Amino acid sequence: MSISPSIKVFLVNSETIKTHPKSQFFKQQKFEGSYRQALYLAESSELFVGTTYKSVSQTTDPFARVWAYDLGAKVFEAISKVEFENLEIQANELFQKSDEAGVNNSLLQFMLGILQASWNFDKYLAPKKAKTKKINIALVDELKPYFTADFEKLLNTLNDAQVLTRSLINDTPEAINPKTYLEIINQELESKPNVTVESFDATKLEELGMNGILFVGRASRYQPVFVHATLKPEGEITKKICLVGKGLTYDSGGLDIKTDGHMPTMKCDMGGSATMFGVFKALSELNLEHTEVHFLTALAENMVSENSYKADDIITSYSGQTIEVRNTDAEGRLTLADLLAYATLLNPDYIIDAATLTGACVVAVSDYYTSLMSNSKELSTSLLQTFEKQGEMTVYNQMPEVLREAVTSQIADLNNTSSIGRLAGHLTAGLFLSHFVDQNLFRNEKLQITEPKVSNWVHLDIAGSSFNDKHNPLNANGATGQSVRSLVTWVLEQDKQ
Ligand code: BES
Ligand code: ZN
Ligand code: ZN
Repeated sequence: MSISPSIKVFLVNSETIKTHPKSQFFKQQKFEGSYRQALYLAESSELFVGTTYKSVSQTTDPFARVWAYDLGAKVFEAISKVEFENLEIQANELFQKSDEAGVNNSLLQFMLGILQASWNFDKYLAPKKAKTKKINIALVDELKPYFTADFEKLLNTLNDAQVLTRSLINDTPEAINPKTYLEIINQELESKPNVTVESFDATKLEELGMNGILFVGRASRYQPVFVHATLKPEGEITKKICLVGKGLTYDSGGLDIKTDGHMPTMKCDMGGSATMFGVFKALSELNLEHTEVHFLTALAENMVSENSYKADDIITSYSGQTIEVRNTDAEGRLTLADLLAYATLLNPDYIIDAATLTGACVVAVSDYYTSLMSNSKELSTSLLQTFEKQGEMTVYNQMPEVLREAVTSQIADLNNTSSIGRLAGHLTAGLFLSHFVDQNLFRNEKLQITEPKVSNWVHLDIAGSSFNDKHNPLNANGATGQSVRSLVTWVLEQDKQ
């Protein structure tokens, strides 16, 4: 049996390469050690990746720096065409442990970046065209102490969660529809300790008055379904967190049908749901002690039939607030209206929603960034810190009160588009959602709210960041899995506080 050689992976910078024994060779190859620059030496099975970040000017952009996850993805990309199975990571100052308790985050990010880049959505490719590579990553002796049982567990759990999220988003709307997606959720969570899954079919949704979800899903051959999974650790519960995801398994636009090439990629419209599901599943495997976690999603398909909902309809949402439909393509917020109202009534400490909500978000912040809005400074600050630490680009957007009028209607409480049209469409969508985390605005008498509360809430518009096929740093097209690792990490941090 032949033993395949191990590729040694070195991170180097513009200084270290000057005194390196191979400095002359680096010069010849124009290898300067700059960030994400890579050089592979086949004779010695050595890979050098640069870490010197050259910023064009003084910048306050926290993401304008070296990120271990990106570097990991670069490592794989640089040798994706080389025959290899084993990598050996060499020591580097980047991996020097900070004083923080817990796992070595840079090393974890680096390894996760490599693993994620080595995974590709191959389900529909001929075996010989499949790109996913099984690889083993070893650490040089100096780094081995960091590879603790906790480290390994977290790395594998995050990797599996991102693969799950990315697989669900990448797969076709035929394969992932409200019926099959529900089956997958049930299967994946079936054997998890302390987890229960409840789902409401259309009859139950009608009984509850969840008309936002019902109207949006009405034209599909698959009935919409509301899913509520709960993770309740056995210890004393001190915190309750709701994770809410937009779960449109397809968004054709409905009667306001998408044109001009806007329909392809709309299989990604359950990206929020798949993100939160990945996070929830990971958390169910990571021994939370004091935090109860809820995963809420509405699985529906926005289609066209004689049964389609229409512009001009007025929907009485679960909260009792009425919504004038002006455009059937602004469907996500109608389903989220019911989900968020339901989440609020669970009386959680925090609600976080993730949604591929608006094209305006992609226009405003590109497909690198998530847009974050919130009604709580404390919650948004804490989440933004985690996103930054994990290198997942996120832009903070204020809740623009000055625009609130734009989502109201002459003939209902709200309208599902905005009276200022496309201007700041991601912000007006966020404003719309904020009406469903404030129980003071609810007017469904059946809900019997005696002491109305406003939930601490964060809205993540992931329309760009969850799916792209242009600048994906993972060297793989389609779903990115972005946000999963930050959200898991953030909940773990909450559990320790
Ligand atoms: N699912 C889309 C938003 C989207 C666009 C996600 C691009 C991912 C990439 C959403 O349901 C939608 O169509 N929004 C409309 C809202 C408008 C009609 C007010 C949009 O953004 O154009
Ligand atoms: Zn839409
Ligand atoms: Zn949509």
